[in-house]
Amino acid sequence: MEQRMMTLGEYIVKQQAHYPEAKGELTSLLSSIRLAAKVVNREINKAGLVADIQGGVGSTNVQGEDQQKLDLYANEQFKAALEARREVCGIASEEEPDFVSFNPEHTSNSKYVVLMDPLDGSSNIDVNVSVGTIFSIYRRVSPVGTPVTLDDFLQPGRKQVAAGYIVYGSSTMLVYTTGQGVHGFTYDPSIGCFCLSHENMRTPETGTLYSINEGNYIKFPDGVKKYIKYCQERDDATQRPYSARYIGSLVSDFHRNLLKGGIYIYPSTASAPQGKLRLLYECNPIAMLAEQAGGKASDGFGRILDIEPTELHQRVPFFVGSSAMVETAESFMRDYSSHEDPARG
Ligand code: AHG
Ligand code: MN
Ligand code: MN
Repeated sequence: MEQRMMTLGEYIVKQQAHYPEAKGELTSLLSSIRLAAKVVNREINKAGLVADIQGGVGSTNVQGEDQQKLDLYANEQFKAALEARREVCGIASEEEPDFVSFNPEHTSNSKYVVLMDPLDGSSNIDVNVSVGTIFSIYRRVSPVGTPVTLDDFLQPGRKQVAAGYIVYGSSTMLVYTTGQGVHGFTYDPSIGCFCLSHENMRTPETGTLYSINEGNYIKFPDGVKKYIKYCQERDDATQRPYSARYIGSLVSDFHRNLLKGGIYIYPSTASAPQGKLRLLYECNPIAMLAEQAGGKASDGFGRILDIEPTELHQRVPFFVGSSAMVETAESFMRDYSSHEDPARG
């Protein structure tokens, strides 16, 4: 007989049994993310069929990037789902210029804020290539029952209570951590459930994949240029040359490297000294997942999760993946690149 798989909802309830003091708020919060993920998954899956959900909307977000219709759709879906359950008092999103405070009358007991990239890799939508959603959850630092403040969102990544992503790929998966390992659930559309498929994911200590937009090579710091050349050298002991793999969706590139072993780099460039990726809703959640799976995440010189954020949409250079590979890349940065210290706690 076919073995029955545990659903995400059942798994969260089982995990909660380890914390008798838990009141189920985080469970309820994760349920709202799960629901929005299903709705966004449905829309993404018909992106080729339904013309009015493809393409740009002709506007740009606060960071000057083109907004796709599905960026805004996903933003609305996650925001609405999070507001409806009343466990979250405010959100911040790539698609919102400022943080959004939910009505304090409705959220007088809620302890959590969520930061998100509702659709990551959205330029891949129109060409049927994997995209994702990234989320990061913190306990608020301002008093419960009052409107949220910027300080609730500007917390270092090590304070995250939970983090995760959904990858809308050849299958759709939700991967999350609450600080007790990383667990992956594959969506079964026939029953409408995320089913436990990857419990306690561990990333290989080293790997043979490197992922970077090499088209920007000329603009990279010397440390990154030297590291790329190192990846391309022949060395049997470390199985070099490595293979280059780059999708252009952080979630998908990270997910592949997490399973197979590898490194993903989005470094500073001459035109973007802080890189491209956003600390709070791209790098921090991915960094927490990487560490929980036994990997590492760095800005090239130190731990991502120790950076003290100063702005909601702050960018940071990002090196993430198998620990031995990130350490080697850091050693090239130390040896060949200089570093203006980001604020660290
Ligand atoms: P988003 O779609 O949320 O703006 O993120 C896109 C990001 C990231 O997912 C990806 O790894 C990176 O941009 C790709 O950038 P390049 O096209 O510069 O390589
Ligand atoms: Mn993104
Ligand atoms: Mn995005």
